Amino acid sequence: MRIVRSVGEVRAALAPLRGGSVGLVPTMGAYHDGHLALFRAARAECDTVVASLFVNPTQFLAGEDFGGYPRDEAADATLAAESGVDLLYVPTVDEVYPTGFQTHVEVAGLAELLEGAHRSGHFRGVATVCLKLFNTIRPDRAYFGQKDAQQVAVVQRLVRDLDVGVEIVVVPTVRDATGLALSSRNAYLSATEREVAGALGRALTAGAAAWRAQPGDATAAAANAAATARAVLAAEPRLTVDYAEVARFDSTTVLAGAIRVGRTRLIDNVVLDEGDPPA
Ligand code: PAF
Repeated sequence: MRIVRSVGEVRAALAPLRGGSVGLVPTMGAYHDGHLALFRAARAECDTVVASLFVNPTQFLAGEDFGGYPRDEAADATLAAESGVDLLYVPTVDEVYPTGFQTHVEVAGLAELLEGAHRSGHFRGVATVCLKLFNTIRPDRAYFGQKDAQQVAVVQRLVRDLDVGVEIVVVPTVRDATGLALSSRNAYLSATEREVAGALGRALTAGAAAWRAQPGDATAAAANAAATARAVLAAEPRLTVDYAEVARFDSTTVLAGAIRVGRTRLIDNVVLDEGDPPA
């Protein structure tokens, strides 16, 4: 696996490989099994696998964890190489946002719900860096985790609206034995906080069961799913709920939640339906 740090180096490295397909896995590092599942999916489908490793400052709000976000390039590089990544693109902030940078991508509407309502401006940073990565790497496919369902929807929207010509592949969420969705931010949790955080996965599972118990009435099923999830979360006083709501992104309906445990904010979702909603 080769590590490259500039747009010019990435393009030069990929130039002789353009005859085959290129897969991109955009990441912010601190790799866990969720990232490795993305790498493996890309490896299985693409001739060349590129991963980007960049903690993107523009998607963090003031006061969020940009400074403390876990960074360990050497450990990440080892895991990426072992998972079949061919090229690891590790740009500096100046490489991505050089002096004078003033163009941003806004996905209106979609980026203002759920996460967008709690982290105003977050998806502007995500959309901007993803478009830059797509333009730099020009992948045939890009791989994203289902855990960030709204991010997937925002990226799919921008790809369609701006005719980017990359196929977005969504890889299922990876969970630990307790049902906690894997996230780089789980590293912030103490043992007790980890136990508390498990309530989110349990709440979403209970909400999904409530959804399934009410076939034929989409509005009632959605209200019941969200209320069930909120009730499970309310029973755990050591966490704060930002939201637990049913959302529809294109043809996918999800029950999504965000909680705060101590100083850590966690998100998760379960897919309720991938086709038409109940009548
Ligand atoms: O999901 C992430 O890790 C980030 O939001 C992404 C897609 C790499 C953009 O910085």
